[in-house]
Amino acid sequence: MERKHLLGLEELDADEILSILESSRVFKEVLDRPVKKVPALRNRTIVNLFYEASTRTRISFELAEKRLSADAVNFSTTTSSVSKGETLRDTVRTLEAMEIDMVVIRHGISGAPHFLTRHLNASVINAGDGMHEHPTQGLLDLYTMGEKIGEFRGLKVTIVGDILHSRVARSNIWGLTHLGADVTICGPGTLLPREFESLGVRRVTDIDDAIHGAQVVMVLRLQFERMEGGFIPTTREYFRLFGITRERLRRCPGDVIVMHPGPINRGVEIEPEVADGPQSLILDQVKNGVAVRMAVLYLLSGRRADGARGVVEQVGAQAGGDIG
Ligand code: CP
Repeated sequence: MERKHLLGLEELDADEILSILESSRVFKEVLDRPVKKVPALRNRTIVNLFYEASTRTRISFELAEKRLSADAVNFSTTTSSVSKGETLRDTVRTLEAMEIDMVVIRHGISGAPHFLTRHLNASVINAGDGMHEHPTQGLLDLYTMGEKIGEFRGLKVTIVGDILHSRVARSNIWGLTHLGADVTICGPGTLLPREFESLGVRRVTDIDDAIHGAQVVMVLRLQFERMEGGFIPTTREYFRLFGITRERLRRCPGDVIVMHPGPINRGVEIEPEVADGPQSLILDQVKNGVAVRMAVLYLLSGRRADGARGVVEQVGAQAGGDIG
């Protein structure tokens, strides 16, 4: 991959996305070994700069970095000089003076990762910026769909929930449409932007219509922290109108898989029995997140996609996987 940064899936073409997914498949083999480590990014220093809360993304980036033998440093706003008023620009210039190679950033403001690319020599990976994009979540969702179903062209995917505030929805819509999938978005009209209609995305407010014939139902969290009121009447009413339940899924023809990027509001956007049931790929998404982030870190470090197989096989061949 020629890119230095990963800021969003909007700017990636289908070949770049498929190349990341193929490298993810190679790195996933490492995660099933007794010794889950390869020396691909030895001597690289990566800072995980999280200005917003995260469980999955932060931990899976840190694990991916450690699985690749990079030096991983975690930065938290509450225990850093950000709490004394230090700006984002001063923070990252301070970090760069310590010779870092990559920054993984999550920030509440859309465009914060783009801002960093103008002030840093290091590679920048967007781990979620405001309501803009969450590209590695989009990639791990694509990987999980591809692993389960195979073909993206014509794949029928329905994304349900708070689309308006969702960077996950935006990254998935860009990724899926680049790969030729048929995307439907569904939710209350207040949470359903029109910006994607020009990409051929179907916009539907009736949940049963939206999921009928879908192969994938992706459920999104209501982002109460980004709402200032008035978007839904009550959570009980939302669940009645848009909640993904066993009963609703039973009425759908064919095998439907259910995904959710997490964290889940159980009983608000999804019935707990569906989240934990046989159609749910929620924990597969989490596991795949580590492999996909390994692939992204590897490729952005300037390594070639066709080199991933060699790195993984070379270490796998060593007795006990001792990489020193
Ligand atoms: N899906 C996701 O981004 O989860 P976290 O906020 O826990 O990282």
